[in-house]
Amino acid sequence: MRYLSGIQPTGRLHLGNYFGMIRPAVEREAYYFLADYHALTGAAEPGKLAGLAQDAFLDLLACGVDPEKAVVFRQSAVPEVHELAWYLSTVTPMGLLERCHSYKDKVGKGLSPSHGLFAYPVLMAADILLYDADRVPVGQDQKQHLEVARDIAGKFNDKYGPVFKLPESIIREEAGVVPGVDGQKMSKSYNNTLELFAPEKELRKAIMGIKTDSTPVEAPKAVEGSTLWGLVRLMGTEAERAEYRGRMEKGGTGYGDLKKSLADLVLREFEPLRKKREELASDPVRVERWMKDGAAKARKTAELVLQRVRAAVGTKP
Ligand code: ADP
Ligand code: TRP
Repeated sequence: MRYLSGIQPTGRLHLGNYFGMIRPAVEREAYYFLADYHALTGAAEPGKLAGLAQDAFLDLLACGVDPEKAVVFRQSAVPEVHELAWYLSTVTPMGLLERCHSYKDKVGKGLSPSHGLFAYPVLMAADILLYDADRVPVGQDQKQHLEVARDIAGKFNDKYGPVFKLPESIIREEAGVVPGVDGQKMSKSYNNTLELFAPEKELRKAIMGIKTDSTPVEAPKAVEGSTLWGLVRLMGTEAERAEYRGRMEKGGTGYGDLKKSLADLVLREFEPLRKKREELASDPVRVERWMKDGAAKARKTAELVLQRVRAAVGTKP
């Protein structure tokens, strides 16, 4: 059973990425890649991409992805993905892409409506199909893209025979949508994130700034639907979560204290990861070697799949 997931190296990793996409696949036979081609459809500043990809690589490793077991690589280390994307695009109905929410949302938020942004789901399907992935852990917002990938694989198979496995998404239901400090979905594009590897002071400050209602200290606080609980429920032990919930329900604890406890919990939960990241960053040679090894392994798998595809469509580069 092969797991595969990708993340755009567009900024520092946040709690939403961790609970939505990284944790569900850690310790599986997994392919993880940094979607740097995809990142070009966004607002990334020219000249920054290489550094961001390097950072994201360290982030993944610090989160427990083992570079000896998993295959971790940059998307652009396997440029053959574009060859596959082209074959796939020839069987992709326009209507399928026109229905994608993500394109409309991004254009609505001011991203340039480029062909790259529109064709994004085709490249994403190629990312998945090029490595014969069985399961793709992603956050809820990527579910439609996964359905599109399955549709495209199905169309290709209908035309050329059974070349591709149909990948399945894994949406970690219990993670659902991780809320950001303003209560909306945590997202880089909303500027409401809690960054996993931010300095302690910054992280505490961000948590103390979480938007809450004006319930007085003595009164019970609403639990379900609150941002504080939306984060606490993902961390700590069962007993700790029950205790926190109890303090909210009982009243007598102000939001300031509740936020402080949340900050302590977040810092404790991620302390080992933060230490590991520092350790990794101090050995760039080792990191470089892992990156190269990951790219070589990914390319080998991709080559085998492409042979199958080329034989089916009748090309021979
Ligand atoms: P962002 O919204 O910050 O740009 P990305 O789109 O790069 O994040 O997301 C990378 C991965 O993390 C995707 O699989 C996505 O579904 C998951 N993810 C991002 N934000 C959240 C969130 N708030 N809750 C759950 N999963 C999330
Ligand atoms: N579109 C995904 C995101 O924005 C990143 C991504 C690109 C991806 N290719 C993928 C995720 C293939 C899973 C599988 O989060």
